[in-house]
Amino acid sequence: MKLFKLAGLVMEKAYTPYSNFKVGVAILSVNGNLYRGCNVENAAYPQGLCAEAGAISAMVAGGCYKIREILIRAEAPKLIVPCGGCRQKIKEFSDKETLVHLADSFGIQKTLSVESLLPFSFDESYLQNKE
Ligand code: THU
Repeated sequence: MKLFKLAGLVMEKAYTPYSNFKVGVAILSVNGNLYRGCNVENAAYPQGLCAEAGAISAMVAGGCYKIREILIRAEAPKLIVPCGGCRQKIKEFSDKETLVHLADSFGIQKTLSVESLLPFSFDESYLQNKE
């Protein structure tokens, strides 16, 4: 699968001297484009960026605002799950059909909806000028 391979390639590029926990993310946007991102750590720890943030930034910079599928991949004893902040970031650019694939080095192990990952969540509908 394309997304799985792409996430693997970008995962290798991750900059993780502090955690040594490499994450690769590949996005298929609704208009059929592919985007990627990896985690980028920093000696000032809180300045580090998750792989999802990088991939979403690339998508937005490419002019697309909706995720059709997102694949998150890591090589770890436990299957990777997106952190809470990244669930919120993914939600911003998702709809009911968006699929979130969780993968290890063998392949996709789980596919979830954004609603199942982040139920009862804050979104634009809470803001005054939005429906
Ligand atoms: N990390 C991600 O890139 N995405 C997640 O959803 C979970 C955590 C990264 C951040 C940090 O570089 C490393 O994994 C360990 O927390």
